[in-house]
Amino acid sequence: MAESHSRDAFVEFERVQKSYDGETLVVKDLNLSVPKGEFLTMLGPSGSGKTTCLMMLAGFETATHGDIRLGGTSINNIPPHKRGIGMVFQNYALFPHMTIAENLAFPLEVRKIGKDEREKKVKRALDMVEMGKFGGRRPAQLSGGQQQRVALARALVFEPELVLMDEPLGALDKQLREKMQFEITHLAHQLGITTVYVTHDQTEALTMSDRVAVFDDGRIQQIAAPDILYEQPENSFVAQFIGENNTLQGVVKEIKADNLALVELDDGELIDCKPVNVSKVGERTQVSIRPERVEFDKKRLQPGAHTLKAEVLEFVYMGDIFRTRLRVAGNDDFIVKTRNAPDQRRLQPGEQLEIGWLPQDCRALDA
Ligand SMILES: Nc1ncnc2c1ncn2[C@@H]1O[C@H](COP(=O)(O)OP(=O)(O)OP(=O)(O)O)[C@@H](O)[C@H]1O
Ligand SMILES: [Mg+2]
Repeated sequence: MAESHSRDAFVEFERVQKSYDGETLVVKDLNLSVPKGEFLTMLGPSGSGKTTCLMMLAGFETATHGDIRLGGTSINNIPPHKRGIGMVFQNYALFPHMTIAENLAFPLEVRKIGKDEREKKVKRALDMVEMGKFGGRRPAQLSGGQQQRVALARALVFEPELVLMDEPLGALDKQLREKMQFEITHLAHQLGITTVYVTHDQTEALTMSDRVAVFDDGRIQQIAAPDILYEQPENSFVAQFIGENNTLQGVVKEIKADNLALVELDDGELIDCKPVNVSKVGERTQVSIRPERVEFDKKRLQPGAHTLKAEVLEFVYMGDIFRTRLRVAGNDDFIVKTRNAPDQRRLQPGEQLEIGWLPQDCRALDA
């Protein structure tokens, strides 16, 4: 959930709202605080307000309501170029009349860094993005992905305290993208740079970030470390948006003393779950279970596991894992992922079996 500002916050949004047309709020009451040195990612579907938040932080848009602070000082009235922020935006172009090396040297010149030091930093930044050989070219003589890499180098070359990146790896192929993901986080941590990163690639968000803020409809739905977000989603939106997720529909029958709820699934089956954001008997719920938490091998089932009948619809060998699609409690799209271990059984379509999971791995969320 969104949090209030804290003492050692470096970037702070306090009750920030944004409307472009004076009617609809595209950012709704945003509270966010980012400590110094953190790598924070804003993740969410298209139109959820991520770029708008970054643009307000950068100073290209103003908040309709609320306060944005940097290092404890309100920046609402400070123009973009005086905020000392490194930026990589998709539409934040390189200077076309300058060479690549000149583009990178520019933010250093502005900061009065001497020629020798400048050349060293430019070379290092270009090497980092594997563009060392292109210093003498102009932006128009580079491919889209190469320009993006130069833009990234330019944002980092003056070692700013805060860097904002909006989908900076969008135009790169998978291999280069993964290499750059590693380079960016490594460099940001090494230099102690605070980073606010925007992506709609959830794998990228999970692998790069200290924390991820999941956006939907102008609000932060949950903000947490990647493992918490994946394993303890606080609502159905987050459970569905992050990773693969199985859902079963039902009704809360009983709230038990041991932090468990008894849920009656729509096909009549009764199961124990962890109640997350449901609290009343009679409330409809969407039960959520991760594919790798489901076991179909009796000898691997842990004591206390709950079992349900299932039918195998499809079995896919994926090398490192097996991905099995099952029919469970009326859901034909129930996925189980199992590690390809020597003693792991391969299933056949049509096979009837019992699957199981631990009640604490099964979360009762909003319907
Ligand atoms: N300059 C603008 N004028 C009017 N409406 C805008 C403007 N920029 C964005 N919007 C609207 O504000 C909402 C949020 O847009 P925003 O660009 O912040 O989304 P986003 O999360 O970055 O999406 P994407 O993943 O597609 O980049 C959208 O409904 C969009 O149409
Ligand atoms: Mg955007």
